[in-house]
Amino acid sequence: MLTLNLKTATSFISAEQWKASREKALKALDTLDAGSGKGNDFLGWIHLPDTVTPADISSLQTAAKKLTDGVEIVVVIGIGGSYLGAKAVIEALSHSFAALLPGRRRPLVVFAGQNIGEDYLSELLEILDTRSSACIVISKSGTTTEPAIAFRIIKKQLEEKYGKAAAKNRIVAVTDQSRGALRTLAAQDGYQTFAIPDDVGGRFSVLTPVGLLPIAVAGFDIAALVKGAADMAKITAEKNIDNPAVNYAAIRNALYNQGKKIEVLVNYHPKMHYLTEWWKQLYGESEGKEHKGIFPAGVDFTGDLHSMGQYLQEGERGLFETALSVESENNRLEIPSDEQNLDQLNFIAGKRISECNNMAELGTLLAHVDGGVPVVRIGIPQLDAYAVGGLLYFFEKACGISGYMLGVNPFDQPGVEAYKKNMFALLGKPGYDSSELKRIVDELNERTN
Ligand code: PA5
Repeated sequence: MLTLNLKTATSFISAEQWKASREKALKALDTLDAGSGKGNDFLGWIHLPDTVTPADISSLQTAAKKLTDGVEIVVVIGIGGSYLGAKAVIEALSHSFAALLPGRRRPLVVFAGQNIGEDYLSELLEILDTRSSACIVISKSGTTTEPAIAFRIIKKQLEEKYGKAAAKNRIVAVTDQSRGALRTLAAQDGYQTFAIPDDVGGRFSVLTPVGLLPIAVAGFDIAALVKGAADMAKITAEKNIDNPAVNYAAIRNALYNQGKKIEVLVNYHPKMHYLTEWWKQLYGESEGKEHKGIFPAGVDFTGDLHSMGQYLQEGERGLFETALSVESENNRLEIPSDEQNLDQLNFIAGKRISECNNMAELGTLLAHVDGGVPVVRIGIPQLDAYAVGGLLYFFEKACGISGYMLGVNPFDQPGVEAYKKNMFALLGKPGYDSSELKRIVDELNERTN
C-alpha cells in the first residue's frame, strides 16, 4: 500500500551511520509503544484507527447527511490541526474542478477560521448570503481566536437568515468532551456535537470527527480512509527494519545529523498540495523545539521546478527531498499527434500525460541526486480514500518515532503561545499587559519614521 525507496538517500551516509540510525529508530518505536516517552498523555492517535467503530462511522455519516440535506455550501471552521487534515483529504480526493461540475449533488465544502482575513470573511459572507448554507465549527480548546472570530460571524449570519431555532440545526460543533468555550456555547445553543478525545492532539486528529465529519460531508468514504490507516497501523507496529515508519524516521535523522536541516516534500500531483501543508504542520509543530528540528518545506512539481528548481539543483546543500509519488492516475489522457507539429511535441504523441510526469519525476530525481541532494521516495498506488488513510497514518507514526529520536516532546507546541500573548496584549484583552509591547512598537515607529 506504500513503498519507501531509500537508495538515493542512503548513498549520502555511511553504512555505520545508517545502521546506528535504524537502531535508534527502533528504540524510539519501543518508547512510543510503551508510552514511556515525553508527551505520553497524547498518544491516543496510535490506536485510533482500531477504535473507530462502524457505529462511529455511521453516526458521522448520519450527521453529514442531516447537515447537507438541501444545503449548497458547508463552511468548515478551524485552524492548524483542526483544519489541515480535512482540507488535505478533501483536496486529494476531489475532482479538480468540483465546484464547476454540472449536476453537482453534494454541497461545496469551504473553509474559514484558518486566517484573520477581513476580505476573506466578507467575501465568504457575500457568497453565503445567496446560498443555502450550514457550518461545522472545530476547535479542541474551544478558545482559539481565528476560528472563534469566524464562527461568531458565520453564526450571526445563519441566525439572521434562518432564525435562531432553525440555525442551530445547521451547526455542528467538534470540540473537547467537557471543557472550553465552544463546548459551553454548543450546550447552551443546542448544537449537535462530536467530541475530540483528550489524548489526541490537534495535528494528530484527522482520524477523529475533526477530519472525518468534514470528509464525510464532502462525500468521501471515511470507512475506507480509516481502514487504510488501520492497515498501516499494523505495518508500522512491526519491530523490525522493514517497518517503513522506522526507516523514514531513521533516514530523516541520519541526514539531519549530516547537516541536512531542511526537508522538502515534493509532490508531482496537483491534488497533493494540501497534503504537503498538513505534513508541514505535523513535522514542524512536532519537531521544531529546543532550537532543534528539520525545517519542513514543500513544493508542487513540476510547476515549482520553474521557480525553486534552480535552488534545489545548485543552492545551499543543507537540504534533502522526500518525493511523494502517486503511482497511477485515475483518468487516462494521451498526447495527440499533430500534423503540423509546430510545437515539436510529436515525439511524445500517443504517450499518456502520466508517463511524461513520471519521466519528469525520474529526471528530477537523478538531477537532484547528482546535484548533491539526497532523495527519499515514498510511493502510494493511487489517490483513493484507503491509500490516503494509510499515508496519513504512516506520516503520523514516523513523526512520533522521529521526534523521540531527536529528543523532543513531539506532542506539545509551547512555542505557538508567544504570538498569541502579544496579539492579545496589543488588542487589549483583559489580563494581558501591553505596556512593554506598546513601548517596543513606539520605538519601532520612531526608528522607521
Ligand atoms: O496541532 C495542534 O495542536 C494545533 O495546530 C491546533 O490544532 C490548532 O492550534 C487549533 O487548536 P484548536 O483546535 O484548539 O482550536
